[in-house]
Amino acid sequence: MEDREDLGGISDCAYNKLDSQEELTTEEQEFFSNQQKQKVSVSLMIPKSSLSRYHQLIILAVFAVILLAVDIGLGVYYNKLTSGQRIFTDMNNELAKLQASYTTATQRKTEANKLLAKEMSEQQLTMWELEHQSRATKDFERRTNKIRLETAALKSHMPMIKEGCRHCLPGWTYMFSMCYYFALSDDVLRRSWQEARNFCMRYGADLAVVDTREKHLAISELITNYYDTSRNIYQSGFWIGLRDVEYEGTWKWLDGTSLAAGYWNDGEPNNQGNEDCAAAYPRSNPFKSWNDAPCNHGLKWICEMTAKTQS
Ligand code: BGC
Ligand code: CA
Repeated sequence: MEDREDLGGISDCAYNKLDSQEELTTEEQEFFSNQQKQKVSVSLMIPKSSLSRYHQLIILAVFAVILLAVDIGLGVYYNKLTSGQRIFTDMNNELAKLQASYTTATQRKTEANKLLAKEMSEQQLTMWELEHQSRATKDFERRTNKIRLETAALKSHMPMIKEGCRHCLPGWTYMFSMCYYFALSDDVLRRSWQEARNFCMRYGADLAVVDTREKHLAISELITNYYDTSRNIYQSGFWIGLRDVEYEGTWKWLDGTSLAAGYWNDGEPNNQGNEDCAAAYPRSNPFKSWNDAPCNHGLKWICEMTAKTQS
């Protein structure tokens, strides 16, 4: 009986059957025997099941703890992954924002550059206009100055012109009982010494013979009053009737008389190149007025002729 208890409830049933086995037929015995074998094998397959329940619970608890730990681990891992992904997404968003800001900044820079280029071109235009205006202003000032100068010159010249109306040809100036023509205007085409002489001769005159101090000072004052100082002095000379064409250094007037006293500028006459004709220049010091120049130079000129006596 002790052995039977060891086998448990199922075994009890099997032994009960075995107790009455003698009363059974062979077939029945065989059947029970088979059943017996099956029960034994089942009981062998789950050995000591009622004893292991505690262990099973422990194992299950261990498993549960492991599973919980794995779950927590996975949770932590997932959390880390998620936060990593979040950081990645945030970084992507930041990058996208930065790219957008960069694009906007680039566009703004391009627009600013265009605006700057436009401003610069407008500024350039303004500068050119300013330059143009200041040139125009300077030109205007120069012309105003010239008009002022000519007005002053004309005022001092007026009495001689008035007298010229009585004694001379129109536009000629009366001085020292003689008539003078001054090619004063800058618009008058400059001529060589011979061309200038030809002009004078067409009116029965000749290039001026400036053989007295008074005559020279009067002529000098007149041409200086009209002088536009912005012009080159060497283009502002007036041919007079004096040459050294026959003998170099021997200066003679057109009437054949030799020069007694000249009003040469310092260092003149210097015959630079070949200078055989004399001209009077509008210098502030009238005693340094003359220069010898090449006769083919284009200059202004002064004609002289005897005045008409009043009838
Ligand atoms: C010289 C003059 C010369 C003139 C010719 C000047 O530079 O000083 O002597 O007659 O040039 O244009
Ligand atoms: Ca000279």
